[in-house]
Amino acid sequence: MSATTSQLHQRLEAFPRTRLCTPHTPLEDMPRLAILTGVGRLLIKRDDCTGLAMGGSKVRQLEFYLGEALAQHCDTILITGAVQSNFVRLAAAAAAKLGLACHIQLEERVADVDDLYRTSGNVLLDQLLGAVIHTYPRGEDEAGADANLDLIASSLRGEGRSPYIIPLSPAHKPLGALGYIVAAMELVAQFQEMNVTPDEIIVPSGSGNTHAGLLFGLRALGVTTPVVGACVRRSAPEQTGRIADRCDQIAALLEMSSPVCAEDVLLVDDALAPGYGLLNEPTRAAIHAGASQEGLILDPVYSGKAMASFLNRAKEQGPEANLVFIHTGGTPALFAYGKRVL
Ligand SMILES: Cc1ncc(COP(=O)(O)O)c(C=O)c1O
Repeated sequence: MSATTSQLHQRLEAFPRTRLCTPHTPLEDMPRLAILTGVGRLLIKRDDCTGLAMGGSKVRQLEFYLGEALAQHCDTILITGAVQSNFVRLAAAAAAKLGLACHIQLEERVADVDDLYRTSGNVLLDQLLGAVIHTYPRGEDEAGADANLDLIASSLRGEGRSPYIIPLSPAHKPLGALGYIVAAMELVAQFQEMNVTPDEIIVPSGSGNTHAGLLFGLRALGVTTPVVGACVRRSAPEQTGRIADRCDQIAALLEMSSPVCAEDVLLVDDALAPGYGLLNEPTRAAIHAGASQEGLILDPVYSGKAMASFLNRAKEQGPEANLVFIHTGGTPALFAYGKRVL
């Protein structure tokens, strides 16, 4: 049996939450991209416009992490991510807004990067937002990166600080995914208002909190639309297990049975190669399509890659199809790739 929006709200109310996100990001028609791909209707959920410090999906997730940090009377936020991490930039912004200190750990996740990548985009904003920067030499070692956060936390405690850790590895409870259950409720209300029944929703799938939270929320509300995760970090077979586990963890966190079954977990990885954070031609073309057709800014790591997958799928669907793309932001990273995107 599906939950009602108010039942889901009640479950979510058990978790401390700090409002950081613009309520109701727009769900916008993109008629020129629809014509380009030959689909009937193409709508984009503008979570690149969540409000805080150039926006993005992670603002929704941070509402729950920062809510817990404040409830625990912490005074310092501690987070890890790639050098051009949007999550880290937004954690620094949220911390600044709430008067907390922020320590960020930047991981070497992308090989052979240049000076622009290390200094522009999100890194520039991290510095502007006053974050204390630490570095971690590996990029594919989630448990190691988390263990290093624990070491930094111990040293901060030694200085009398009270740190709150936002961990990376999937071994931790998926608090951030709750932000995308909220987004699912918002989206369902927008579908009703706009009288749309989408045939498919596409969302970038990295740590999995966005994808799993959205899928869980929609299924809990009885919405059966396929939700396709576009892999930006690891291959579809690897990501499938992660999303399925994430959904089970969300169910445990909310103390309810999972409305998600194995067949609901759909992933594509056609735009991933040659790997995380590495630009490819379909992604470059997708970034250009967004900009030239709709004045839409996409990034090379997340939203551009997902748009490349989305354009591939849309071309197979035909003029009857109504498709929804979740734009998760990432705009500042564009500047770190400079002329390579042109
Ligand atoms: C702009 C953007 N889109 C999508 C994602 C992927 O979201 P998730 O890690 O929740 O899978 C991220 C993750 O950092 C991101 O920064």
